[in-house]
Amino acid sequence: MKYIVANWKSHKTDKEVTEWFEEWKEAGVVSMRAEVVVAPAIVQIDLANQHKPEGVKLAVQDVSPFPFGAYTGAVAAEMIKGKVEYAIVGHSERRRYFHETDQEVANKVERLRETGITPIVCVDEPYAESQMAALENREGLVLAYEPLEAIGTGRPQEQEEVDKVVGMIRRIEPSLPILYGGSVNGDNAAVYLGVRGVDGLLVGGASLKVKELAQIVAVV
Ligand code: PGA
Repeated sequence: MKYIVANWKSHKTDKEVTEWFEEWKEAGVVSMRAEVVVAPAIVQIDLANQHKPEGVKLAVQDVSPFPFGAYTGAVAAEMIKGKVEYAIVGHSERRRYFHETDQEVANKVERLRETGITPIVCVDEPYAESQMAALENREGLVLAYEPLEAIGTGRPQEQEEVDKVVGMIRRIEPSLPILYGGSVNGDNAAVYLGVRGVDGLLVGGASLKVKELAQIVAVV
């Protein structure tokens, strides 16, 4: 089973979320080989649950490092329990624009663990090793290798380099699923799914269009 995770980031109105799922259902995309996970904005999770087909799973793009409490603006993992199966944490955009630290990412993972939501933890180079070391307990995680220079640039990392870094991560964590993310699209998905040790893809820009994500799922 390969993971195909669609990270919609800060895109899409409610209307567009509804239309995307309706179009996805009309396109009749089903795959026995792919775990398709869509991550809309957190305020659209209920809407996505109303419109998504059964086979598609949902993720949030982030979660609070704190439990319930006096943390203005934060969404605790407990609040999304039962609404999503996955949560992306530690995305490089969170680390970069919101100044999230390795310790906060580790705390988020622990909060998610308490709720049974599977964390998809993003790591990048040259920090992957220390980012992973900061996690108290890595059991049950999904890891996503996302090289900074490949994200949103239209220039995915060279296959050889992905092979090298995924191999390094795999030596530290032999049994966890490892995804690749960074400018994946319908045309190059097969190449990255074919890299040794890659268990799936984290797709940003290309996942906004049904056609493109369907093309990616079709090559799994
Ligand atoms: P991209 O984003 O596919 O638009 O490069 C990937 C990601 O950041 O998850």
